[in-house]
Amino acid sequence: MRIRRQGPSLAVDTPAKLNLFLEVLGRRADGYHDLETVMVSVGLYDSLRFTSSAGGALTLSVRESLPPISGVPRPRLISGPGNLVLKAAQMLRRDCRCEAGARIELIKRIPWESGLGGGSSDAAATLVGLNRLWGLSLGQNKLHELAATLGSDVNFFLDSCPVAVCRGRGERIEPRPLRRLLHFTIVHPQAGLSTGKVFSRWTPGERPPRSGDVTDWLAGGPSCHADFGVYNALEKPAIEWHDGLARLLADLRRESGMPVALTGSGSACFAICRTARQARTLAAMFATRGGCRTWSVGSRT
Ligand code: C5P
Repeated sequence: MRIRRQGPSLAVDTPAKLNLFLEVLGRRADGYHDLETVMVSVGLYDSLRFTSSAGGALTLSVRESLPPISGVPRPRLISGPGNLVLKAAQMLRRDCRCEAGARIELIKRIPWESGLGGGSSDAAATLVGLNRLWGLSLGQNKLHELAATLGSDVNFFLDSCPVAVCRGRGERIEPRPLRRLLHFTIVHPQAGLSTGKVFSRWTPGERPPRSGDVTDWLAGGPSCHADFGVYNALEKPAIEWHDGLARLLADLRRESGMPVALTGSGSACFAICRTARQARTLAAMFATRGGCRTWSVGSRT
């Protein structure tokens, strides 16, 4: 997360994430699933601007800045109470018994329902941004407590760590070292996927968790496995919901010759590339196929 003052406002750029490993350990009594996942933050950002407003009004305006997909209508922008940014702001006010107001402007570059964590990242940025703007002085532990009630991925973005192993629902964060510069091509097909729907079709598989292969590799160890342990247990249920996802993953694997996976519950997929140039070439190749958005991005240090 990058934070800077802009006159009376606070500007925050907050990144997307990729899940290099995601194992579902089991269904819980509260309806959620226990996970073990390795998340990496990448250089695709939403931007938020927070400005104090008189009279306690809390407003959000959302502008989309995504490359269009020809023939596909733009998604409806949610700027009402359902938006996680407003929920985060209201939660802060309730918790601190504070009546301050803010004008929040959000520029969306991270697509919805993509598994790239945009909504969670925006919520984390709001907790951090308004904590500062309103001078609330909440510590990191308190912010983590609030983050966990907003969504399972929000905690990861709060700490701005480049890599973490996340457990529980995803909210228990263990930062890990990143000693490699990573390059990715991300491909997001036109239809998104609902996280809840994908989890609902998950059934236990046979593959044991082995996030250690990925974290060792990220920490600079040799890749002893052709795929570096890249894995996502939600790939199978996501493919059942999404026509074309299996083919997209297969094409990405064939064209890159590199490890490929779904991120989160999808529908975005990624390939780990050898160089920034390979990532750009692959992104351009998939962009010309139509029906999807593509990016070439790097990891963050
Ligand atoms: O936590 P978040 O609001 O992002 O989750 C959206 C939905 O995804 C949940 O309502 C739940 O159905 C599912 N989910 C899950 N297990 C997780 C995370 C999410 O079942 N660890």
